[in-house]
Amino acid sequence: MKTLRLTVDPRRPDKKQLAKAARVIRGGGLVAFPTETVYGLGANALSAQAIRKIFRAKGRPSDNPLIVHIAEPGDLDRLTDDIPASAKKLIRKFWPGPLTLVLKKSKNIPAEATAGLDTVAVRMPDHPVAIGLIRMAGCPVAAPSANTSGRPSPTSAGHVAEDLDGRIHAILDGGPTRIGIESTVLDLTSPVPVILRPGKISESQIRRCIGVVVTDRSTHGKAARPRSPGMKYRHYAPRARLIVVEGSKPLVERRIRLLVRRNVGRHVTVLVTNRRRRYPGAECVFVGSSAESIARNLFRLLRETDKKSVSLIVAEGIHAKGLGAAVMNRLRKAAGANIISI
Ligand code: TXA
Ligand code: MG
Repeated sequence: MKTLRLTVDPRRPDKKQLAKAARVIRGGGLVAFPTETVYGLGANALSAQAIRKIFRAKGRPSDNPLIVHIAEPGDLDRLTDDIPASAKKLIRKFWPGPLTLVLKKSKNIPAEATAGLDTVAVRMPDHPVAIGLIRMAGCPVAAPSANTSGRPSPTSAGHVAEDLDGRIHAILDGGPTRIGIESTVLDLTSPVPVILRPGKISESQIRRCIGVVVTDRSTHGKAARPRSPGMKYRHYAPRARLIVVEGSKPLVERRIRLLVRRNVGRHVTVLVTNRRRRYPGAECVFVGSSAESIARNLFRLLRETDKKSVSLIVAEGIHAKGLGAAVMNRLRKAAGANIISI
């Protein structure tokens, strides 16, 4: 199929372009669209047939459920019969925004969208293009990140096209995304709310809002059944071997110099968090100095190293607090077991 590319102003998207994309969704097709986090691959969340197309286009395992996107908090009533008080507080504080809530699902949602679970993940994105599209489509929009399964999430329409051109009906191009890593996923169906995937909305922000919350660590180990099915897959994986080195700064730098020396003659890229840092013998790529800028650049840089014949990527770790926790979660997942903590 020929993928239609629809370019829009991210702040004031043209209604005609949105209408074209909304027509595709209503007709059961797939549209990639920008959100404030990453690009999503959207389909009508109430149509099992449309949802199956998402799994096919991405090559996504069918046991990994999707996030349902809505245009206003009131749309939640169709998706769940039970909105707990904690959800109401969080919605008032953080929606629209990068917080996904896992709630008991209503029977309106086909089992395909939730991989057969009795819960549904929902969020209201903070992006005029996403909101305009959902509103015009007139239905909730199921959307995973718009990448081929296992590749870094797309933060621009170009990344979406790299992975999915010819496999989906349309791409709404609203420029690069603002945050750069995916939303926080919070499960509100357990006795104590659990963060299944860290993101821009931090554990302490959630705790300040509803009192208690814990972060699920099972995905770091080899737990048989992580609570969020998607977290068990190796994600965001660049083609080159990636090693993350974390700990106190001088020790990290010394260890990286050693790693570079051990790999002389190979193309080694170091993702550095200080613009002036040099590692003789390696290509240094500045990834950003704050958690915000690193989040915005990380997936793009992982994709760019894939295009060069890099044999080893070494990343300097950052302090895992706030958005830094989300950045380190993505880096550690991309590294698989290659984490050096000193
Ligand atoms: O920022 C985001 O969340 C982006 C944009 C497009 O909204 N979406 C996104 O979707 O990252 P995806 O499919 O790549 O990641 C969804 C995550 C997966 O880890 C999945 O397993 C988890 O949410 N998830 C979805 N439904 C769930 C449920 N009912 N229970 C537990 N985890 C769920
Ligand atoms: Mg994804």
